[in-house]
Amino acid sequence: MSITKNISELPCHPDPVTMKPDLDRAHEIFEQLADQYGKIFMVQFANQPMVVVSDAKLINFVLCKRQELFGPYHRNSKILEAIKSDGIEAADDHDWKQQREIIAASMESSHLNRYFENIKAVTEDLKNRWIAYGENLSKTDLEAEIFGFSISVFTAIVFGDMADKPEDERETAKNLLHNLLVILSKRIDALLPQMHLESFTRDKDFDEQIKEVLIIIESLIAHNRNLLTDNNGTGKAANMLQVLIEIMEEKGVDIRNVKLIENILLILLASEPTTADTLLRVLHYIGANPQVQKEIQDEVDAILGKCDIIENIKDIKKLRCIDAVIYESMRMSPVARFVLVEAKVDLLLDDIEIPCGTPLVLLIAYCAMDEENFHQAATFEHRRWCSESKEDFSHNNKAFLGFGAGPRSCPGRGLAMLVMKTVLAMICGNFQICLVSGKPVLDETVSKDKPFPLDFTVEIRGKNHDFEA
Ligand code: HEM
Repeated sequence: MSITKNISELPCHPDPVTMKPDLDRAHEIFEQLADQYGKIFMVQFANQPMVVVSDAKLINFVLCKRQELFGPYHRNSKILEAIKSDGIEAADDHDWKQQREIIAASMESSHLNRYFENIKAVTEDLKNRWIAYGENLSKTDLEAEIFGFSISVFTAIVFGDMADKPEDERETAKNLLHNLLVILSKRIDALLPQMHLESFTRDKDFDEQIKEVLIIIESLIAHNRNLLTDNNGTGKAANMLQVLIEIMEEKGVDIRNVKLIENILLILLASEPTTADTLLRVLHYIGANPQVQKEIQDEVDAILGKCDIIENIKDIKKLRCIDAVIYESMRMSPVARFVLVEAKVDLLLDDIEIPCGTPLVLLIAYCAMDEENFHQAATFEHRRWCSESKEDFSHNNKAFLGFGAGPRSCPGRGLAMLVMKTVLAMICGNFQICLVSGKPVLDETVSKDKPFPLDFTVEIRGKNHDFEA
């Protein structure tokens, strides 16, 4: 007969945990406690016991059992509701299934071709702007440049280039959408401390700003619907919004039933900062590893030839070194560091009795830095992801959870990889990334902190120049 444990028998941190009012740093508290208390322990958070897990096998079990045993953490869903972005991430059961089917279908590889033209156009704009900066490029605010790129590229993927809208309307829409992240992030940070959301205060500024954003999105939905009707049945959906409308019409689903507006906000919120932040981290690792930069440049030069950007989506698959460097950067310094879930029923996790309603913090980043899962986990080694050299660097595939796992894993993974590979090929083909601090990348602390303040600059690369390590 197996013996089970109650959660009160788990190692437990004595003091209630308080969240910092900064989402980017929230993980630090749990990761520091995991160093102290091990792979599964308990904390008190927001007047409730919370179970923290960093074991790869247990995390995979929980992620894959969403729907039956686990659902979204209700306080997280309340934050999304408060910022009008309570689409798929806040949904559960039938609602989630219906929204997921439609959203995931709009990001399938068969649709990526349609988005590629807009990805190329925004990438080309970035290249031209950086070339125009000339010698001043190395003094440019790269964080703002990469975030600006990410916002522009996902705005273009979702809404197209809006070229058919009057110029003043187009500019207003673009400006508002560019400010969206700031508007939403400020509100999230204000709601975060302690997550005592039962009596959260209203924010008049936010209410007014979000009202404007919602009006713009509603008008863009109506506009794109009309464009589709004009193209009647010609399969001309050219942006994600049109693809979503097409899929909903095929399935006979009403816009309100899938919370289209909330989901558009959520898609922008889920895509823009994650992709920008990941790109900055990848650029940091490339700059810090001259040999890796040379390897990428050789790969990119062979594919680009005389072009400055990848023209044909088929060539994206050839970017094997860039692919490996993205994965290794995401392993060592991922933007998504934990996933929050809640037990939907009384259940057993391994030998531990978890009561219904208990929140669980799954430390997905922490387990990718565990020596048990990755050989020389603290070392940046992109070759562990290359099929030719994989055998030399054994690892537990399931411990890489940068895009989550199971039925609720990131549906935008393919799209994010396409955007990142397109822009990184352009950057490495045309520019040189230079580390300014000379700080060694093998510093273990790099794995836990952002590589900020930015320790690299970019300069225009003479293509025939041989850059030595
Ligand atoms: C490098 C960029 C990205 C990273 C690191 C990332 C990471 C993640 C992670 C860790 C999750 C939670 C997965 C889980 O719970 O198992 C997630 C969910 C999600 N992501 Fe991404 N993501 C990225 C880009 C994108 C993009 C480009 C989109 C859309 C265009 C997107 C849309 C979503 C959505 C809608 C969900 C919620 C899925 C659900 O609840 O069913 N993400 N992402």
